[in-house]
Amino acid sequence: MFSFFKPNQTTEKNQGKVIALMNQKGGVGKTTMAFNIAHAFAHQGKKVLCLDMDPQANFTSLFDIATPDLHIHHLLVNTIKELKALHTSVLISDVIVKTKQEDGVQIDLLPAGQELSGFELTVAGINAPRQLILKKFIEKYELRSQYDVIVIDGPPTLGLLVVNILCACDGVLYPFVPDRFSEQGLKNIQQVVSDIADMEITSTPKNLGYIPNLFDTRRKQATSDLANIKDTLGEAFVYEPFTNKVQFGKSLAQRKSVFQYKSTEYKDLQRQFTQMTETVQKELHS
Ligand SMILES: Nc1ncnc2c1ncn2[C@@H]1O[C@H](COP(=O)(O)OP(=O)(O)OP(=O)(O)O)[C@@H](O)[C@H]1O
Ligand SMILES: [Mg+2]
Repeated sequence: MFSFFKPNQTTEKNQGKVIALMNQKGGVGKTTMAFNIAHAFAHQGKKVLCLDMDPQANFTSLFDIATPDLHIHHLLVNTIKELKALHTSVLISDVIVKTKQEDGVQIDLLPAGQELSGFELTVAGINAPRQLILKKFIEKYELRSQYDVIVIDGPPTLGLLVVNILCACDGVLYPFVPDRFSEQGLKNIQQVVSDIADMEITSTPKNLGYIPNLFDTRRKQATSDLANIKDTLGEAFVYEPFTNKVQFGKSLAQRKSVFQYKSTEYKDLQRQFTQMTETVQKELHS
């Protein structure tokens, strides 16, 4: 039974934090990172909600559940009074999936689905601020007092879904592949963040750092390419790079995080994600 309608007794200080994995570029590891970071937090005893905001629903599919008919899109539409004709009779408690991972860790999931790709069109004509639908949804259901961390997996786009995520979260992590194509994608999303700041409709999310992924150590230029990219990233934290790891392919195929393995070949990845969550915590509270 969910306690969504209990009075919110938490203070501002111990409210949960919302973080998002974002990059306009596809295939850079947003979902892989989101899944493992969520598990890292859960292993530290945090109450974690995974929120899938990508119509591809890859994050959702990493949890061993049946594809849901009703998901985050329907809940978001239900919060918009002007769209009453499109409302579905579904409660948030019907949509949130309480997943029990194999190692006993519990993580909740708000799944996504194909309908989310029509979100922008669905809300196109409303008068209420379209950028703040997700933020208001999180406030309405007091999700910050229900969870310590809400991990959002973002889509590889730059549209209204992305703006909603950026307006709703406290901080953003940017996974990227350190090659010569990565710079523009990162610049584009920074531009959206600065546009949000200019609009002055909400606070802007903190840059929690960049995660170099699929770092190709065999390529001669890899280290200098990464150093050059780092120079363009300004003050933000740059995490230890992830190389191409077969362990990701294996674990994700089995719908498991790297924390669900005891073998030593996963130890280094476990350490990387644990350290990452420690840095994220520090950055969020600094
Ligand atoms: N460091 C890595 N080593 C090996 N495989 C990886 C690594 N990082 C990601 N992958 C694999 O690359 C693929 C793309 O990763 P992922 O789905 O996390 O990217 P994404 O940014 O979420 O993509 P999209 O933008 O389409 O949502 C997946 O099959 C994932 O298992
Ligand atoms: Mg993804």
